[in-house]
Amino acid sequence: MADEETTIRLIRVDDAGVIAAHRARDRQANATREPAQPDEFYTEAGQRRRIETLLGEHDRGERWPAVILADGEVVGQVTVSTILRAPFRKGFLGYWVASASSGRGHATRAVSRILTVMTEELGLHRAEAHTRMDNLASQRVLRANGFQPWGVAHAHIFLDGAWHDEVFWERTLDDAPSS
Ligand SMILES: CC(C)(COP(=O)(O)OP(=O)(O)OC[C@H]1O[C@@H](n2cnc3c(N)ncnc32)[C@H](O)[C@@H]1OP(=O)(O)O)[C@@H](O)C(=O)NCCC(=O)NCCS
Repeated sequence: MADEETTIRLIRVDDAGVIAAHRARDRQANATREPAQPDEFYTEAGQRRRIETLLGEHDRGERWPAVILADGEVVGQVTVSTILRAPFRKGFLGYWVASASSGRGHATRAVSRILTVMTEELGLHRAEAHTRMDNLASQRVLRANGFQPWGVAHAHIFLDGAWHDEVFWERTLDDAPSS
């Protein structure tokens, strides 16, 4: 079977319904991997409010929140957050893909596309990400996009009732001098 096409675009408020449905479907599966969220996170109204906040941060240049599309359908999110300007010119990557669409290369291709946004649209020089030690799928996504692990942060994230170590990842995007 041919690969589905993977594209990304800026998130819109009318993505709230499909995102809430994906998040609600995967709530149990992700309970040990993602921070606990209030019940409204899994509703269309809650996602609408959240997307409005994300778009406000985008307008202030702090974040680039995108959806991942598989053949035009929303299947996940990829976001550049904590955008810092010169002298750092860097951003932090986060992403998820709905379990119904996982294992088809969407996260790998979506990260590749957002690295282009980070370079060409945002003018950033460096990308960073964190993964849990046991999140091998996410580590594959980062390695396939040229990221290297540079350290382990001990007891870095509190999930599912315990502190977990995380691997820190980095990738430079260009060698141009900071401006
Ligand atoms: C991690 C996640 C983003 C991967 O999305 P995806 O679209 O399935 O990823 P891709 O299909 O592009 O690539 C997954 C890679 O991991 C590999 N993989 C999947 N499960 C694996 C496992 N248990 N062990 C090792 N590798 C695994 C796949 O074979 C693939 O590698 P390959 O391309 O070299 O064959 C998705 O599972 C997810 O959203 N998980 C929950 C949230 C999360 O963990 N986000 C990342 C936080 S750092």
